[in-house]
Amino acid sequence: MTEENLNTSGNPSIQDVVEQRLSRRGMLRMGVGTAGAAVLGSLSLAACGGGGDDVAAAPAPAPSTTPISLNFPAVAKSTADLVTVPAGYTATVLYALGDPLNAATPDYRNDGTDTNFETRAGDHHDGIDYFGLNAAGTARDVAGSERGILVMNHEALTDQFLHAAGVTANPRPAAEADKEIPAHGVSCVEVRKVNGRFVYQRESQYNRRITPNTPIEMRGPVRGNALLRTKYSPAGTDTRGTINNCGSSVTPWGTFLTGEENWSGYFARSATDDTARGGATAKSVVSLARYGRPQNSASRHGWETAGAADLYARWNISQTGTSTDGTDDYRNEMNTYGYMVEVDAYAPAAAARKRTALGRFAHEMGMFGLAQAGKPLAVYMGDDSRGEYIYKFVSTASWDAADASPANRMAAGDKYLDAGRLYAARFNADGSGQWIELTIANTTIANFANYRFADQADVLVNARLAADAVGATKMDRPEWAAVHPVTGEVYVTLTNNSNRKIEASGSGQQSVDAANPRAYTDAPTAATAPGNVNGHIIRFRETGNEPAATTFAWDVYLFGAEAGMDATRVNLSALTADNDLSSPDGIWFSRKTGLVFVQTDDGAYTDVTNCMMLIGKPGQVGDGAVQALEYTKADGSKLTVNARVGAKPTSATLRRFLVGPKDCEITGITETPDGKAIFVNIQHPGETIAKANIGDATKFLSHWPGNAGYGAGGALARPRSATIVITRNDGGLIGTDGTQVLNGY
Ligand code: FEO
Ligand code: CA
Ligand code: CA
Repeated sequence: MTEENLNTSGNPSIQDVVEQRLSRRGMLRMGVGTAGAAVLGSLSLAACGGGGDDVAAAPAPAPSTTPISLNFPAVAKSTADLVTVPAGYTATVLYALGDPLNAATPDYRNDGTDTNFETRAGDHHDGIDYFGLNAAGTARDVAGSERGILVMNHEALTDQFLHAAGVTANPRPAAEADKEIPAHGVSCVEVRKVNGRFVYQRESQYNRRITPNTPIEMRGPVRGNALLRTKYSPAGTDTRGTINNCGSSVTPWGTFLTGEENWSGYFARSATDDTARGGATAKSVVSLARYGRPQNSASRHGWETAGAADLYARWNISQTGTSTDGTDDYRNEMNTYGYMVEVDAYAPAAAARKRTALGRFAHEMGMFGLAQAGKPLAVYMGDDSRGEYIYKFVSTASWDAADASPANRMAAGDKYLDAGRLYAARFNADGSGQWIELTIANTTIANFANYRFADQADVLVNARLAADAVGATKMDRPEWAAVHPVTGEVYVTLTNNSNRKIEASGSGQQSVDAANPRAYTDAPTAATAPGNVNGHIIRFRETGNEPAATTFAWDVYLFGAEAGMDATRVNLSALTADNDLSSPDGIWFSRKTGLVFVQTDDGAYTDVTNCMMLIGKPGQVGDGAVQALEYTKADGSKLTVNARVGAKPTSATLRRFLVGPKDCEITGITETPDGKAIFVNIQHPGETIAKANIGDATKFLSHWPGNAGYGAGGALARPRSATIVITRNDGGLIGTDGTQVLNGY
């Protein structure tokens, strides 16, 4: 996704950048690494074959004594229009854009004439999780590896392909908006092993779509607040829908938690709305600007132009009514977006709930720390925009292991997610860090000059402004978070940041600091602006492993880079042809094996390779060394930033496992409880398409998965986002025969 660029607050990005003399700059690029004896796998369709799969659900394994090691050949970088996995593995397309979720919905023609997206797979598959079922499909089974429910996000659209002749300009035809709106949201879809292969179930009691039109309950401290009052919900207790859902995770009680990410772009504001709201210093105007909607903002899809009906009009958040409280228009509608949203896959009739206690920002996703009986739960969250923050929620309720299988899962969500404390992270140059609570009781927040918070609900709705007030550290676009299932250490991808500079010289730019230490130019053609071109992955360990700790220790697990780039300034993790990557986005740990999976959403290295997924065996915070990065500032003075580089991976500890088709991103991964199947989402293959070329299939950048035999269209098909399932041909675990985990489930 494109990111917003909104943090113009005056926080220093971190301190402790020591000026000193330095030697000349090293060459950025020393050569291009392209070697690597990778083996191309094939993508096949569910058909005959299979072999070797379990029949019964796998029991919990005994602690493994097998030293964990990666046991697949590294996949080479590739620009081919297919999914490549190592020899010995099979990747199969399972569930693609438009696939029907009941018998009444026609097969997907994939020619732009399809409708009924309320009962089809949405577009842009993203975060995904697996919820096991028993053999009869009648109840939750946490060990159910033969039958389960996949729940996934549909983040956004490749809108040109949804229509026969591409997108019609504003005013948008209602018929086009009626397809685009419900192609967003969340899918719940049952999957089952048939003859040893997973297939999706076109008919299932669990199949469900949650779209931007679906009623959703506002929960937590902001419920009923004046900031949420709308024409739809004058009491401020409800909203419709969820949008731009990005990453996801499973709660300790077995529900799906999805992040609302770049939602602000869907709303329009008139050119004179500041005046209507009381001028540039009005609180709502300051808030809207900080969250990406200054006045005179056009909406991404122009749905507010599709008609006077409420389902279109709500996307215009200008103050058009005469009420003082906003109950006669949608001036407050955007305050009902930007939350973590909880969905119970097993209870299709249960409304989703927005958990306002976890704050409002561009939520990539939220990942729970290890649940420890008798202690609060922690949820780690990134705000994916340039220069935004990393957050932590700590529940008021302490974890009761009996809640792992509660009678009412959404009630468990109320218990753990509706009351707690929200913190923002500050990363110090010495490798320590603090969690700073965002509370109205903090006079720095209560007296913040830029925005006068009314109460704690206001702090949660405007969490970015509260984090500005307390000087949280501006990061290089925080994306997914993952928690190591053995050590409990937290990993957060920082995908890239074109606004990270040696020294910030303009509004919205950030200077290099210890936690975001690189600013350099892409190689070989400077295809991107100088900045943190390739991204990195920061990790931290809570003091005492306590979820409620207010201090932590951190380092950088991995710096993305091209293998051939300068090791003194760019390729700090010494990546090689087997594991070099750019723009890490998805990150996830297998709870079965303890291996880490890293997925990319890249635009910098795509001249050499499509986006990819790697599998690794990370160490822990502090296992590397400090490396001094030396810069020359504009005035000729020297600047040294000390990067805290984790142990450099080798091909034995980090290896490329998958490369996707053209013009896609790899995002979202989950596994069956037995660890023998993983589900991975391929998002927006061939998304770069001009309306003028929609009638000429030879101009499409990708034809996947039609070119792999899935669905209509064949070799010249319109591309579709899709979920694939990957298994090992010998029925083994993914990536290894060992485990670091006793039993994750
Ligand atoms: Fe939706 Fe931050 O990626
Ligand atoms: Ca992304
Ligand atoms: Ca993402």
